[in-house]
Amino acid sequence: MKALFVNGSPRKNWNTHKMLESAAKGAAEAGAETEIVHLYDMAFKGCVSCFACKVKGNRTNGLCAFRDPLTPVLEKARAADVIVIGSPVYFSYPTGPTRSFLERLMFPVLAYKTEGRRILKRTVPTAMIYTMNCTEEMMPKVNYPVLLSANAGALEMLFGYSETLYSCDTMQFTDYSRYDVTLFDGDHKAQHREEQFPKDLQNAFGLGKRLVQKAVEMNQ
Ligand SMILES: Cc1cc2nc3c(=O)[nH]c(=O)nc-3n(C[C@H](O)[C@H](O)[C@H](O)COP(=O)(O)O)c2cc1C
Repeated sequence: MKALFVNGSPRKNWNTHKMLESAAKGAAEAGAETEIVHLYDMAFKGCVSCFACKVKGNRTNGLCAFRDPLTPVLEKARAADVIVIGSPVYFSYPTGPTRSFLERLMFPVLAYKTEGRRILKRTVPTAMIYTMNCTEEMMPKVNYPVLLSANAGALEMLFGYSETLYSCDTMQFTDYSRYDVTLFDGDHKAQHREEQFPKDLQNAFGLGKRLVQKAVEMNQ
């Protein structure tokens, strides 16, 4: 049982990475072999519309044919039993590299067929983890539940199962006094980090564990 965790944040050891680490610990507790990869360590493109994966009789087997530094990660994702993708919210969407990764992950397993869109025979439980400045109360006002659940919808259709987890009101800088910021209060952020973030990490742990259990149950 392999569980792959994909960090779509440029920062290591910050909010998104920490949420993924916790989810990976949960997956490991449920018996999975886990790995975290960092998208910003690689120079890669999104889908280039080559359509090699849609050619009649193609042998891509659901793997993107365009070869670049992302290829080994896509191979790992294709072999994984669980895939968890974490991203900060940048201007209401996942980061650019996260989107590029999702295009390359999803398009080759999308069938352009009237009889069904899915080519995968087994269920691969997936999840999106988002971290953001936005507070939980503000989320509906800025339409995030709708905007951010679009990816989970596509993942669910193609891989058979998907969940979305949010970590809101995250701490963006270690020392707010250094930055020209009046929109966010450093003391509030520090308090939220101390009180809420451990709960978010616990939720991520539970998510990782649950997805591995689902991978077993759903493929029996
Ligand atoms: C370029 C940029 C754009 C951002 N846009 C948003 C946004 O639209 N909504 C939001 O809630 N937070 C936004 N943020 C804040 C990040 O989503 C938040 O700090 C996140 O937790 C950072 O993740 P990290 O700590 O893993 O890097 C933005 C941050 C940056 C750098």
